[in-house]
Amino acid sequence: MSTIVSVQNLSKTYGSGLKALQHVSLDIAEGEILALLGPNGAGKTTLISIICGIVTPSSGAVEVAGHDVVNDYRESRKLIGLVPQEIALEPFETVMNTVRFSRGLFGKPRNEAHLERVLRSLSLWDKRDSQAKELSGGMKRRVLIAKALSHEPRILFLDEPTAGVDVELRKDMWETVRELRASGVTVILTTHYIEEAEAMADRVGVISKGQLLLLEEKAALMSRMGKKRLRIELQSTISSIPPTLSRYQLELGSDGGSLVYTYDVQAERTGITALLNDLSAAGLSLRDLQTDQSSLEEIFVGLVNAEDGQNG
Ligand SMILES: Nc1ncnc2c1ncn2[C@@H]1O[C@H](COP(=O)(O)OP(=O)(O)O)[C@@H](O)[C@H]1O
Ligand SMILES: [Mg+2]
Repeated sequence: MSTIVSVQNLSKTYGSGLKALQHVSLDIAEGEILALLGPNGAGKTTLISIICGIVTPSSGAVEVAGHDVVNDYRESRKLIGLVPQEIALEPFETVMNTVRFSRGLFGKPRNEAHLERVLRSLSLWDKRDSQAKELSGGMKRRVLIAKALSHEPRILFLDEPTAGVDVELRKDMWETVRELRASGVTVILTTHYIEEAEAMADRVGVISKGQLLLLEEKAALMSRMGKKRLRIELQSTISSIPPTLSRYQLELGSDGGSLVYTYDVQAERTGITALLNDLSAAGLSLRDLQTDQSSLEEIFVGLVNAEDGQNG
């Protein structure tokens, strides 16, 4: 797949001296859903804002379909739809006028058929004559998406699309994003909900303290970084782990009837065969064995914590 957004060695230091982004490089492939995952203050909105030409970079460069976002702003911005983190709509304006006006801002000729398609796809067609102030929070978010799609962008940025949105609406939003991708739009979303990145993204980038800690296919990330847990049910309970098993760093279940062994999926040797032999040598009989894979959540927390450790 071809690259549609290219970010090269991007840094941003705000006037306050705060380093919001440090040497971030990434390529975004046309047609993918990329989730930028990171805690509050990580630099997600800053990154998006620079790509969209709203914030000027301190150093580095960004190209959107070959257009430099600083020197060739008008061309790059035309290709982008941005759904901002905050809901900002004219309260007395109708939905239809809002999207029509937005399209006009990009100098696009009127195209009522396109606007109708957009509104229908977001279940807003019946609300086209409603004023923004009459709409629910979820509907307002849809209007923001409709606005962002009004000028037929090839890339859509969604900045925390489901922050403060209830679970039901969040699932609707996920569905909407998948439909957008199916229609050929490249989607970049930011989120601090791991579940959201896990549910939607083709690739996940993890940002913390202005640095891109990793960028990887979601599936590959989960298996590469993933640890597996082997849960061992014992025939009878024990009060402590025999010292001969100390090297496995087992956890004893609170009921004393199970042990959990955590191992690296990628390791050359998992240590399971040796562990089972040593359990037997320690006189422990097994009732059952189960494995489960750690989720993206655990991977994420592990990464962000590891980063904290490095920085002191
Ligand atoms: N206009 C600004 N001036 C100064 N500092 C800012 C500005 N915007 C954001 N920041 C700071 O930059 C850091 C990254 O912010 P932001 O990009 O909004 O992170 P995120 O979207 O991941 O929560 C934060 O510490 C934030 O306080
Ligand atoms: Mg933000």
